[in-house]
Amino acid sequence: MWRWLLPLLLLGVFPALLAQDYYEEDYEEEEDTRRRKKTSPKTLTTNLIPKNGQNRIAEDCGVELAFLVDSSESAKDNHAQEKQFVIDVVERLQGARLHTGRSLSFRTALLQYSSRSLTEQTFAQWQGVAHFRTRIRDIPYIGQGTYATYAITNLTHLYLQESAMSAVKVTLLLTDGQFHPRNPDIFSAVADAKNQGLRFFMVGITPAANEPGNVQRLRLLANSPSERFLHNLQDRNIVDKVVKEIDSGTFGACVL
Ligand SMILES: *[C@@H]1O[C@H](CO)[C@@H](O)[C@H](O)[C@H]1NC(C)=O
Repeated sequence: MWRWLLPLLLLGVFPALLAQDYYEEDYEEEEDTRRRKKTSPKTLTTNLIPKNGQNRIAEDCGVELAFLVDSSESAKDNHAQEKQFVIDVVERLQGARLHTGRSLSFRTALLQYSSRSLTEQTFAQWQGVAHFRTRIRDIPYIGQGTYATYAITNLTHLYLQESAMSAVKVTLLLTDGQFHPRNPDIFSAVADAKNQGLRFFMVGITPAANEPGNVQRLRLLANSPSERFLHNLQDRNIVDKVVKEIDSGTFGACVL
């Protein structure tokens, strides 16, 4: 008798679970739209009047690329490598061409975070790759706890103030995947930023970032699919991979 009961139970329970999933997704989408409606008028008016005339993205298609660099105690041994990665990505993007043959126009901001967030370069301060390289090379490691949320919140404000409306907004968060217990809710900070159109790459910086709990957290924070948006600094050809994804993501956004 039990043998018959099991399939019946499964038939009853699975559709119920599926329905619940769908419901939750719908709900999230509704929530998203609601938030977008709430925030978009502000976003639009701010973006229509970019503050920095001379070096904003001139074309209809460009990338505003932000790096959030982990400068906390746990990133001590990787800080130099993080900076090198940032410089490598920016240098590679300089030469990159879209499938259309157009070269990629971009500008870059960089924030460091530990127990506070330091804005090392804003988009408006972008003066090309050579200048950026010199500037980044010298930024010191800070130390202390990992409060990535401060950097995400500050960056969201920065985009609101300086962003060109048409730009593709790409953020690379470098992190070991573990945040200070008193770090304010990172999920809601990232959700707000995504509602403003930011796309998030998560770049783990240590092998610890690959531990299951950390991967799971980073996967939730990154845009999806995670094969494209979740990486690790210790991966082979990490610069190639990330540059390729930024390129193809931008191309996708630009044909729309
Ligand atoms: C960003 O957030 C921190 C909090 O860590 C704050 O101290 C800082 O002044 C903020 N603003 C900028 C522009 O970095």
